[in-house]
Amino acid sequence: MGKLLIKNIKNLVQVREEAPVKVSGKEMAVLPCVENAWLAIDNGLIADYGSMDDFPGIVDWKDLEVIDASDRIILPCYADSHTHIVYAGNREGEFVDRINGLSYEEVAKRGGGIINSVQLLRKTSEEELFQQSLIRFNEIIKLGTGAVEIKSGYGLSLEAELKILRVIKRIKDLNIIPVKATFLGAHAIPPEFKGNKEGYIDLLINEMLPAIAKEKLADYIDVFCEKDYFTAAETEKILLAGKKHGLVGKVHAEQLSHSNGIKTAIKCDAISVDHLEYCNDSDIEELLKSKTMATVLPGAAFFLGLPLPPARKMIDAGLAIAFASDYNPGSSPSGNMGFMMSLGCIQYKLTPEEVINATTINSAYAMNMGHKAGSITRGKLANFILTKKINSYGFIPYSFSNDHIENVFINGKIFS
Ligand code: NIG
Ligand code: FE
Repeated sequence: MGKLLIKNIKNLVQVREEAPVKVSGKEMAVLPCVENAWLAIDNGLIADYGSMDDFPGIVDWKDLEVIDASDRIILPCYADSHTHIVYAGNREGEFVDRINGLSYEEVAKRGGGIINSVQLLRKTSEEELFQQSLIRFNEIIKLGTGAVEIKSGYGLSLEAELKILRVIKRIKDLNIIPVKATFLGAHAIPPEFKGNKEGYIDLLINEMLPAIAKEKLADYIDVFCEKDYFTAAETEKILLAGKKHGLVGKVHAEQLSHSNGIKTAIKCDAISVDHLEYCNDSDIEELLKSKTMATVLPGAAFFLGLPLPPARKMIDAGLAIAFASDYNPGSSPSGNMGFMMSLGCIQYKLTPEEVINATTINSAYAMNMGHKAGSITRGKLANFILTKKINSYGFIPYSFSNDHIENVFINGKIFS
């Protein structure tokens, strides 16, 4: 791979000499930048950077490509630590049902929701599922995502969960951006186990987990801890079973009601706990004592019209917050992390600095990718966004949903 030099960068954003594992509380308001900067890439990695004022000059011009980034900004790609991009079809029908007055829970009670996607996915071949998911994978990279976590959870049978996880593996093996795989067999109770949740949990623990572990198909195990889905006690049982197979926990918690998912996640050493609409003060206190990353999914709260997670209060209490897209067909059919940042500023009253930290360093932490992604640091992957001509990084969340990206660089090469 060749060498690349980008010079005259108006502002090089999120530059960390020594990248912290995460940034918490007041530190979230700090975003280190180098104005009028240069950035050197070698072999797909960030090699060096600095100010144009003390540009060292080029020793070895051989094979060096040079780009002039005058008036444009560079920031690290987003790390999207919570997605469900491997699914079949879509659910625009339910979208219209909700416009006409049904709630997300009412749609699910009628057999729609997650189960609707499960039925469609079971009928879809692995190849077709891969092709449909690949479109979304490429789409999110074009929108600036440079590291991603992808969940299963629309199969809910041994065969169909394996199908999703194999598709995730195929996406991972493309070696475009780093991918983490999460087993979310505990996403809902499949129709054939209606009235027999115990039986489904047994299948999940005794058949699905060993098969997934044997094929090394997952890094994480996730549970939808929610009324009508999985209780805190069931969540704990499933997370502990996952732990025995080397899978670290992640939890969908307190989205539609307070179900004690946060405390359960912390107790089981989960790496992240996600959603948090009904997170209360005592949850915040527990999170402060833990290593679990509080992850807000602004797209889902926006799309479903849910009460907003108390992100502002959490940061003011000293917590670290990550943002992810939750890209899925039912509650957040978008993987646009730039838009998630806009929601963070507009709805949650976070500053541009805070939302950039939430979508880079902190969300990389939420999938243990801090060593590769989340900041402009020597040795990390050269996955970054070159903006169009804009005045400041604050313009990105401010000018919501507009396209500010000129190029996305992946492994030091223009991806789009
Ligand atoms: O993260 N909350 C549960 N699971 C997904 C939505 C699943 C769906 O509706 O398809 C979420 O929001
Ligand atoms: Fe989710």
